[in-house]
Amino acid sequence: MKPLVYITRRIPEEIIKPFEKDYEIEMWDSHEEPVDRELLLEKSRTADALVTMLSDKVDQELLERAEKLKIVANLAVGYDNIDVKEAVRKGVQLTNTPDVLTDTTADLVFGLLLATARRLVEAQRYVEEDRWKNWSPLLLAGTDVHHKTIGIVGMGRIGEAVAKRATGFDMNILYHNRSRKKGAEERLGAVYTPFDELLETSDYVVCMAPLTEDTEGMFDHQAFKKMKKEAVFINASRGQTVNEEDLLYALQSGEIQSAGLDVFQDEPISADHPLLQLDQVVALPHIGSATKETRYAMMELCLENVKLHLEGKEVQTPVSE
Ligand code: DGY
Repeated sequence: MKPLVYITRRIPEEIIKPFEKDYEIEMWDSHEEPVDRELLLEKSRTADALVTMLSDKVDQELLERAEKLKIVANLAVGYDNIDVKEAVRKGVQLTNTPDVLTDTTADLVFGLLLATARRLVEAQRYVEEDRWKNWSPLLLAGTDVHHKTIGIVGMGRIGEAVAKRATGFDMNILYHNRSRKKGAEERLGAVYTPFDELLETSDYVVCMAPLTEDTEGMFDHQAFKKMKKEAVFINASRGQTVNEEDLLYALQSGEIQSAGLDVFQDEPISADHPLLQLDQVVALPHIGSATKETRYAMMELCLENVKLHLEGKEVQTPVSE
C-alpha cells in the first residue's frame, strides 16, 4: 500500500503528478475554502503525511489522533498554526517554506509601504468615484519614502530583503531583532536599534517579526504612542503581533498617520472591519508570498520535503523547537 499524503487544499495537478507513482495523494476539494475540521482530524488519523495551510490548526487535538503521521509540511514560512512542542514530542517531522518566498514577500511589503505612503488605493477610488475634476497642488499628497527612516522589527530573511529594497530608496535603515545581524549591518548599513528608539525615530515601522509568545500584541497602545505622528505602520507578519483596537485608536486620534496591513488578528476579515472604514488604511488579504512562481515553488517544496522524509532522508527545510 502506498503512503497516504493528505493536502488540505486543492493544488494544481501538475504539482502532484510526479509524486503520484509513489504516494496515494488526497486533497481537500477546494482551492479557496479551508478544509473541514472534522475531515482533517479524520485524515490525520490515517495519513502518513499532511500538507497544511497556515489556516489549519495542527494542535494537540489533531496530533493526538495521528497514529501514522510522520510529517507535516506547512505551506508557509510561519508555523504559528502548529503546536511545535507537541509535534516534536510525538516525533512528527515539521517543515516550512523559507527562502523560496523571501524576495516575493519583500516585494509585497515594499509595494504595500509605497501604496500606503503615496495613497495609491485612495487615489484609485478617487478616480473610480468620478471625483477627479481638477488638478490641485495638494491633491492626494502623500509622504515621501526616499531618504526617510525605515525601522524593521524582525530582521529575518524577509526583513533583510525589505532592507535591501530600502537601500534603493536611499533610506536610513534601523532594525530590531532578538539577535544582532552583523551581516545585514555590513552589507546594508542597517543599524541595530532598541525597540522604543526604533519606534520613536522611524518614519516607517515595518513589522516582520514571527508570531511568538514574545511578539504577540507587541504593537499596542504604548508602542503606537511612541511613534511619530507622521509614522506609517506596515504589518506583513502575523495579525496577532498587533492590538487592532489600539491601532484603530492610534489612527483615529492621529497618533500615527497611516497603516498598510497584509495580515489581521482574525482572518479573513469582512468589509465592515473597523480598520477598513479608515481612508488611511491599505488592507490586503494576506498575499505576501502570492505570486504564481512562488506559490508553485512553495507547493513543490512541501511535497519534496514529504518525499524526502518518507524515504528516510533529511528534509530541506526543517522546523525545530
Ligand atoms: C507565510 O508564509 O508565513 C506567509 O504569511 C504566507 O504568505
